[in-house]
Amino acid sequence: MSDQPRTILITSALPYANGPIHLGHMLEHIQTDIWSRFQKMRGHNCLFVCADDAHGTPIMLRAQSEGITPEQLIEKSSREHQADFADFAIGFDNYHSTHSEENRTLAAMIYTRLRDAGHINSRTIKQAFDPEKEMFLPDRFIKGECPKCGAADQYGDNCEACGATYSPTELKNAVSALSGAKPVEKESEHFFFKLGDFEAMLKAWSTEGHIQKEVANKLNEWFEGGLQEWDISRDAPYFGFEIPDAPGKYFYVWLDAPVGYMASFKNLCSQRDDLNFDDYWGADSKTELYHFIGKDIAYFHTLFWPAMLTGAKLRTPTAVFCHGFLTVNGAKMSKSRGTFIMARTYLEHLNPEYLRYYLAAKMSNDLSDMDLNMEDFMLRVNSDLVGKVVNIASRCAGFIKKRFNGKLSESLSEPALYAEFVTQGESIAQQYEKREFGHAMRNIMALADKANQYIDERQPWVVAKEQGKDEALHAICSMGIHMFRALICYLKPVLPTTAEKAEAFLNAGELSWNDVKEPLLGHEINKFKPLMTRVEQEKVDAMLAASQQHLERIATPATVTASGPLADDPIKEEVSFDDFAKIDLRIARIVKAEHVKKADKLLQLTLDIGGETRTVFAGIKSAYAPEDLEGKLTVMVANLAPRKMRFGLSEGMVLAAGPGGEELWILNPDEGAQPGMRVK
Ligand code: MSP
Ligand code: ZN
Repeated sequence: MSDQPRTILITSALPYANGPIHLGHMLEHIQTDIWSRFQKMRGHNCLFVCADDAHGTPIMLRAQSEGITPEQLIEKSSREHQADFADFAIGFDNYHSTHSEENRTLAAMIYTRLRDAGHINSRTIKQAFDPEKEMFLPDRFIKGECPKCGAADQYGDNCEACGATYSPTELKNAVSALSGAKPVEKESEHFFFKLGDFEAMLKAWSTEGHIQKEVANKLNEWFEGGLQEWDISRDAPYFGFEIPDAPGKYFYVWLDAPVGYMASFKNLCSQRDDLNFDDYWGADSKTELYHFIGKDIAYFHTLFWPAMLTGAKLRTPTAVFCHGFLTVNGAKMSKSRGTFIMARTYLEHLNPEYLRYYLAAKMSNDLSDMDLNMEDFMLRVNSDLVGKVVNIASRCAGFIKKRFNGKLSESLSEPALYAEFVTQGESIAQQYEKREFGHAMRNIMALADKANQYIDERQPWVVAKEQGKDEALHAICSMGIHMFRALICYLKPVLPTTAEKAEAFLNAGELSWNDVKEPLLGHEINKFKPLMTRVEQEKVDAMLAASQQHLERIATPATVTASGPLADDPIKEEVSFDDFAKIDLRIARIVKAEHVKKADKLLQLTLDIGGETRTVFAGIKSAYAPEDLEGKLTVMVANLAPRKMRFGLSEGMVLAAGPGGEELWILNPDEGAQPGMRVK
């Protein structure tokens, strides 16, 4: 099956340049990298490219709040992202940026072709506009009072207090979250991509084996709902590319983001003479193109993208491979629980190959979520990699080196056993090919069990002490090394760094898939050095603690006023010192926290502020279970006028820091704070 070399281009989704790489991203890049390395080992011409996704409002605002230019921000992110990926041994052939000349040219080319073919509409639409910031406001940047329950400070389209949903125009006393100004309705011309023009093409495409079954079902729902025109323009100020012949209008970030795949490849072409851009992207391309993405962005990759490509007379993807989401210890990645783990935090404590193997062992080709359970992680890695695989070499290598001058025996003592390792290689390869990495890992470990069983039965350490048994010892240990080599070869897509060390030990160059067919008879190997150490509980604990600490710092009283992502939630209108001094902030102990019937977001808190208790309804249910809160400290506005809510009287307000959802933090106890203390 690997006889005919294929020409393959693979991509992972482009991470946004306004945040760090976390283990959710790593799941995707590890999956892609394993597949890419596997294809390369099989002798195919395979290239793996990626880039940072550098455009859009959040990046523009983030740069503003950091007091730097967007270019500076994306430059810094790019450096950090690439260092994180490199340290996880993600073997990109190129890593580029959507804010690049290649991307500007290609996005303009695609747009122009779409426009000239009549697939672009323009019309005037009305949108909320911030007269102070002089910019149009996406829903999530509008705040006001809930039209249903009157709760203040509710965002865009749903109420944290009562759970009502509405359109931003229904909010009472709406203000811009950027400036606090009252938004006005303003008209502006927008450009739309007529997705409906591609309905027939997309319907056919969705049945031709380019997407997984679950995604095809989703697509059918979207078809039934009708394919709406897609708004692809944004007005200045915007960080992106200006639309050709439309001054002040910019491509919406998702228009040029997937074009970034092409741009990264184009950039690679400029570094290499053997690549021709049109061979890969032309309408009649014979090469294979695969996009690995998370299930949250399937819409963009299975509707807009194939339609855009078709409209622009370019090839469409051979397949889009969707994966599920990573959870940590059974929960969504959450900053408050310390389960939002940045790639860098992991790398500071643990060997990246542990995670590569652990995730590979759980990966399949469907959309199910994958849990990183730290307990299971330790057991699995220690028992499989350290206990089974590495162990084989360490049990045999010493004897070969000391007793046989490092030379393996001239013949195979157990050809039938070895033949099993060779035959299994083909089914393992098929599992890799189908992205059934979990199956592949189970098969490899079954072979490792066989190898260990062989060594356990032959007991080389006993044979070594017996007189005249040199030949037997040589045969057993050589068999052990041959089997070890096969295992390492099959694990190499998953464990590139360990494989590299093993290759140095085996002293026979880089392993490719078919090498297993030829055992290294009479070959001289090098001194064995330990390939991998056990996962230690302390390191895991330290990594989780570091993930947690990072966030607790944000939630200490000193930073309550200064923290929060300014980009999403800029500073409000100035208040006088006298006004500010009226607010009485007190440390409160949460003595009781209870669910509130029929409230999605609220918890009822009983607060002790040093001799006085208060009842407060707080919209922090998404971040905390009641039992997690009891005994903790928080900061409250102690002199806020009591407010009648649907569920009872709220006598104050609790302060929490964070962007919302699960990521809201209250104070950590034991910081020397006492209930009743004034916060200054
Ligand atoms: N910039 C867009 C993608 C543009 S592709 C032309 C984007 N960026 S992202 O940084 O939010 O996500 C990048 C990839 O990481 C996506 O495929 C997304 O699904 C994936 N993941 C983000 N969090 C994840 C998990 N917790 N688990 C698994 N994958 C996750 O979307
Ligand atoms: Zn409400």
